[in-house]
Amino acid sequence: MSEQVRSTSRNGAEVATGTVPAGARSTVAVTVNGTHRSAEVESRRTLSDYLRHDLGLTGTHVGCEHGVCGACTVLLDGTPVRSCLVFAVTAAGHQVTTAEGLGQLDESGDPNSLSPVQRAFRDCHALQCGFCTPGFMTTITAGIAENPDPTRDEAVEMIAGNLCRCTGYQNIVDAVLRAAELAKDPAAPLTDRFTEHSDAAHSADQDADGAGA
Ligand code: FES
Ligand code: FES
Repeated sequence: MSEQVRSTSRNGAEVATGTVPAGARSTVAVTVNGTHRSAEVESRRTLSDYLRHDLGLTGTHVGCEHGVCGACTVLLDGTPVRSCLVFAVTAAGHQVTTAEGLGQLDESGDPNSLSPVQRAFRDCHALQCGFCTPGFMTTITAGIAENPDPTRDEAVEMIAGNLCRCTGYQNIVDAVLRAAELAKDPAAPLTDRFTEHSDAAHSADQDADGAGA
């Protein structure tokens, strides 16, 4: 008995199709965040499960598991894909970048050592619970590589395929613009342009707390 497998990218484009024997196992070797990794998995194992359960890279989050929320987005050879819709075997031999690979704090803990997108999320308070954040960060990393100088409308479009239950998106749109700025100039000062939404949200939270007291 065999099964048809089909993998699609973030925008629905077909990545690969094929037929595998039911229960078949394969050794899948990929380069993840610059490091060669390998594990034997069922041929129908999704890339998200492979990363999380076989490689222990739990920075990739899984929400809907059917391509809607974007939480599982990773970069496959630099292109954002829904890792819940990609079979691990189709990523074999390719470069995968997960949230863990975007950047790390240096030994001194200086936040300026983070990547532009990570710094921008910090600057703009672009997360609350953080469940959606790895998917947004990988999406935006690829987005500003493709469009280094997005308008606000283009920033909205850039993140249109990712869902967030908490933030209302405005601070994430700010983070796109701030990340683009930091990618060009790591010393760019943080201006009111990027803090007005977070200040407004903070005030609203305080008002709500006061109303409920
Ligand atoms: S978990 Fe993959 S798109 Fe939602
Ligand atoms: S910060 Fe909670 S889902 Fe986005």
